Amino acid sequence: MLGVCYYPEHWPETIWAEDAAEMVALGLKYVRIGEFAWSRLESAPGVFHFDWLDRAIDTLAKAGLKVIMCTPTATPPKWLIDLYPDILPVDVKTGQVRGFGSRRHYDFSSENYFREAMRITSVLGERYGEHPAICGWQTDNELACHDTTHSFSASTKTAFQQWCKQHYTDIDALNTAWGNVFWSMEYQNFEQIELPYLAVTETNPSHNLAYRRFSSDQVIRFHDEMIRILRQHAPNRFITHNFIPMSDTQTDNAALAKNLDFVSYDNYPLGRTDLFFANSSTADFKRYMRTGHPDYSSYAFDQSRGISKGPFWIMEQQPGPVNWARHNPRPEAGMVRLWSWQAFAHGAATVCFFRWRQVPFAQEQMHAGLKRTDNSAATAYHEIQQLYAELAKVPDLAQQHPAAKVAIVTETSAQWVTEIERQGDSYNQQQVEFAYYSALRQLGITVDFIGQDQDLSPYTLVIAPCLPIVSQQFITNCANSKATCVFGPRSGAKTAELTLAPELGPGLIQQLIPVKVLSVETTRPDCHDALHFAGKTFQSARWREELSEHAGLTVVARYHDNTAAVVKAKQCFYIGSLSCDEFLLAFFEALAQDLAIATNKLGKDLRSVQRGNLTFVFNYGADAVKLSLPEAAKLLVGTDVINAFDVVVYQQ
Ligand code: GAL
Repeated sequence: MLGVCYYPEHWPETIWAEDAAEMVALGLKYVRIGEFAWSRLESAPGVFHFDWLDRAIDTLAKAGLKVIMCTPTATPPKWLIDLYPDILPVDVKTGQVRGFGSRRHYDFSSENYFREAMRITSVLGERYGEHPAICGWQTDNELACHDTTHSFSASTKTAFQQWCKQHYTDIDALNTAWGNVFWSMEYQNFEQIELPYLAVTETNPSHNLAYRRFSSDQVIRFHDEMIRILRQHAPNRFITHNFIPMSDTQTDNAALAKNLDFVSYDNYPLGRTDLFFANSSTADFKRYMRTGHPDYSSYAFDQSRGISKGPFWIMEQQPGPVNWARHNPRPEAGMVRLWSWQAFAHGAATVCFFRWRQVPFAQEQMHAGLKRTDNSAATAYHEIQQLYAELAKVPDLAQQHPAAKVAIVTETSAQWVTEIERQGDSYNQQQVEFAYYSALRQLGITVDFIGQDQDLSPYTLVIAPCLPIVSQQFITNCANSKATCVFGPRSGAKTAELTLAPELGPGLIQQLIPVKVLSVETTRPDCHDALHFAGKTFQSARWREELSEHAGLTVVARYHDNTAAVVKAKQCFYIGSLSCDEFLLAFFEALAQDLAIATNKLGKDLRSVQRGNLTFVFNYGADAVKLSLPEAAKLLVGTDVINAFDVVVYQQ
């Protein structure tokens, strides 16, 4: 249930056994190793050094730990780069080579790297695939982190041209699909196709979308081949990958996860809050500076659960200040325990902490560990002792499953469309989706994330906050389902090639609700208009659609000028505006009541979630709160007064 990331190559061998014994005493079961160790494993082509790794694995196993082995492909060594310089990726913003000296310095389209990465994977697989101490494998490390999905290299260009040829077959079909007659962009053959970067001004959105689909396919090709090799050598071992936030992979996450046994997520709530909420007001930002936003981590947990075959893991949990965000605050005392509990509450099977001991050298010397460099225990260490003791008080979590009545439909292409075609600076698909999710979570509603092709039968409410490209299959599923469907602005507005839907927005959604988007305006976030709903006034800003009004459509909310903002027909709602968070809360609260979906609204900083017959409550705020628990509730962790940054678990 608990584990840690460890780097035997960073520490003298004389302390490995002590470290391992202490990990076990702390309640840790798993230890992840090896993801950056290539230079120590192969010092020159074919010159391998496995002796130290053999001894490290033995030491950890002897102490009773299970080992998760990684492929070391996130850090190709210097000799390999010197041998094949085309491994290095090229920055799409500058056209400059991204050099050696950090990590992830490889291009997914370099055939030399593809071959070398699979070679080292085979070598490790052959040696350790059936090692009794190794329970599973992690592929690479945080694929796509540091913006490495896209590259401007010559090998990328050639591979993209081949991809286009496969997809469009005929150059005229590509010219038509992309609308290349505009600005004389037509190509005569596939070998002329450029990468959509470093042009004078914006490049064609359809070209951009094709490039993103191609880039995503390249990551998946690399990853799938690695999984295939590991499966050959490591039977009966799990294979997972540690994901960064789904918004940052620039890859189709569901496709990336498809061949894994389960998804792992690396949870850094403070670093991520610093980046994701960079534009929030000072007061809002400060409120969650040392806790992370109450819904940010669970957003990632629920997304991970959505694309994972088995229960997901946290492979890296932030243990204290990190070193890589714009600012790196210290978590409030108790938060490492809270985040870990929250992961379990949302369906995690295991939480591993990053890292065992803070390292005194190199890039991450300012990044906390469970232990300080002088080997003393850092704050999180004591929180893990507490967490381990508490975990023994709850029934086997593997028997308790999160069960949602509400689903958010999501897809990576939605993010791509909003990034490629900005239209208004303050529209960002991830922020829109998060605002919807956060409203539902404030109501205590459990949310599943699903793809367009998934079965809708478990759900009472299906929400697509932003889905510019909808499939006919999804619309048919909605039409055949009993669920109420809610579509956010921009949904259905585009064809699969990122051109305007011929029947106007919301495109195919008109089969469910006869509304047309007549025009769109975008505004500054601080220039809002009134939005009237259910006798109250809210705000609309950033994105506003002009909606048609007909018989058969009920207007649910109106703008200041009395035009329709939210419309409804039968079981389907269409929202034509980006609104304030308060509107989303009021709208979904009313809808949940109509649909008899249970809610548990505890206030701005409190969240509750169900896993099977367990209810978990989290307090992200600085004040203690008295909870009114159901009569049948049996408290397992905490009391009915939840302290600041604390956790309560009860069964009923
Ligand atoms: C993760 C990464 C780790 C380490 C950590 C620091 O993104 O996988 O290797 O760099 O961040 O927070």
